[in-house]
Amino acid sequence: MLKEIKNICCIGAGYVGGPTMTMIAAKCPHINVNVVDINDNRIKAWNNPDTDYIPIYEPGLASLVNEARGRNLFFSTNVNQAIQDADMIFISVNTPTKTYGVGKGMAADLKYIELCARQIATVATSDKIIVEKSTLPVRTAEALKRILDNTGNGVHFDILSNPEFLAEGTAVSDLLNPDRVLIGGEETENGRLAQQALVDVYANWVPKDRILTTNVWSSELSKLTANAFLAQRVSSINSLSELCEVTEADVDEVARAIGSDSRIGSKFLKASVGFGGSCFQKDILNLVYISKSYGLNEVADYWEQVIIMNDYQKRRFAKKIVETLFNTVSGKRIAILGWAFKKDTNDTRESAAIYVADYLLSEQAELVIYDPKVTKDQIFSDLDYLGSRSTEENRDLVEVSNSPYDAVENAHAVAILTEWDEFVTYDWSKIYNSMLKPAFLFDGRRLLSDELMREIGFEFYKIGKG
Ligand code: NAD
Ligand code: UGA
Repeated sequence: MLKEIKNICCIGAGYVGGPTMTMIAAKCPHINVNVVDINDNRIKAWNNPDTDYIPIYEPGLASLVNEARGRNLFFSTNVNQAIQDADMIFISVNTPTKTYGVGKGMAADLKYIELCARQIATVATSDKIIVEKSTLPVRTAEALKRILDNTGNGVHFDILSNPEFLAEGTAVSDLLNPDRVLIGGEETENGRLAQQALVDVYANWVPKDRILTTNVWSSELSKLTANAFLAQRVSSINSLSELCEVTEADVDEVARAIGSDSRIGSKFLKASVGFGGSCFQKDILNLVYISKSYGLNEVADYWEQVIIMNDYQKRRFAKKIVETLFNTVSGKRIAILGWAFKKDTNDTRESAAIYVADYLLSEQAELVIYDPKVTKDQIFSDLDYLGSRSTEENRDLVEVSNSPYDAVENAHAVAILTEWDEFVTYDWSKIYNSMLKPAFLFDGRRLLSDELMREIGFEFYKIGKG
């Protein structure tokens, strides 16, 4: 019998769990949504009466949280209670790249997923629909089912795959108006009913023709594939950015020319200092690992090249700075504008800025970093995590500034590493005047006009233009 969903639990209150559940709660006032997490600080921040301090910065998110929180949206650390109460449980925990054992550096670490499954299996006393919201290797549902079906307590579990396609910085509009919602289910009577129950939740605001249903394996694999295709476009255009620099072609002009072909399309062709974010790299590495584990070495090599190109692009940009500054940055002050992996987010995971900064620090540069949304603690934690030098050395060589104008003062060079809109509006003449001369400006995001910057007096370099 078709189940009407009245109570949803989401395990994991992160960048995906928080915004997706807020949207469901906002659009489905008849459904109670409990978002739970083991991280007490994160839950406290979600419950902060002042929504300026919720843990994730996303345009439009704070007002949605305000609308639904306390009405039918709740954040808590009481995982067991939320599991008990729920008809449907989303698993939205992190699935990072493994840092130990078999598959180290490539495979997805599924320990958090497995812990959730075991907890659900132990606690549940009534039938539940389990939804994989996290990005998972294809055929994970099989492992989940084996854990859930072996509890001997007679509870029936249906497993769905419902990967999330939101991008950070545009999460609210992506969730409000998704290109598609994908729901994979088992091809059995129960599987179809579970799938329909989730279709009905989304149908509260998403047009039915955008809700795609597939089998579980297609859904799991489509998520990894979507990220691989997106990242591949960025690596493809970034590979050409270097060719543009040596041939006096302009990479934006090339992107416009090829993107106007409707078979290619214009989106995701912006050359950059390299893609970052928590998912592209980890999901491609996972795809490579899965391919290898099935003995498909050529498939694995094909996709691995996307990562190799991205690492090269970050290194190439950092190397360009050193070479341009007369082959040494030792003791030179370099201002870095932007630390987040893209604009409109405070997320820094795998941000290109971290790797460019690390390269420059290894060349003994002194860095001053400014980002409008990233905290000082986060910046130091990102640098310390690399383990390239001691925490004391990082603090000796790096300063974090609250003001872009303070950051650039007496700098030998400025490097733009995130495409924050506010960077374009700065008084670049004032910045030029406060820097040492010659004043070098490296634009890793193609934000600024070359004519204008050269007119002001900068020695200007931008990715993808000779
Ligand atoms: P995140 O690290 O921001 O959040 C995960 C949360 O899960 C953390 O707060 C952690 O404390 C919590 N958690 C871990 N184990 C738990 C447990 N056993 N019980 C309760 N809570 C637990 O991660 P994220 O960015 O939200 O990503 C989650 C998943 O969604 C990943 O698989 C990721 O690949 C996928 N995804 C992420 C994005 C994105 O833009 N960040 C987009 C699409 C898909
Ligand atoms: C990406 C996908 O776009 C989402 O669909 C997916 O759900 C998500 O990964 C995920 O699975 O985590 P996200 O990483 O948040 O979203 O942000 P993107 O907009 O994809 O940007 C990723 C990186 O690529 C950023 O560093 C961005 O600056 C870079 N990028 C993107 C470019 O350099 N050029 C482009 O043209 C586009």
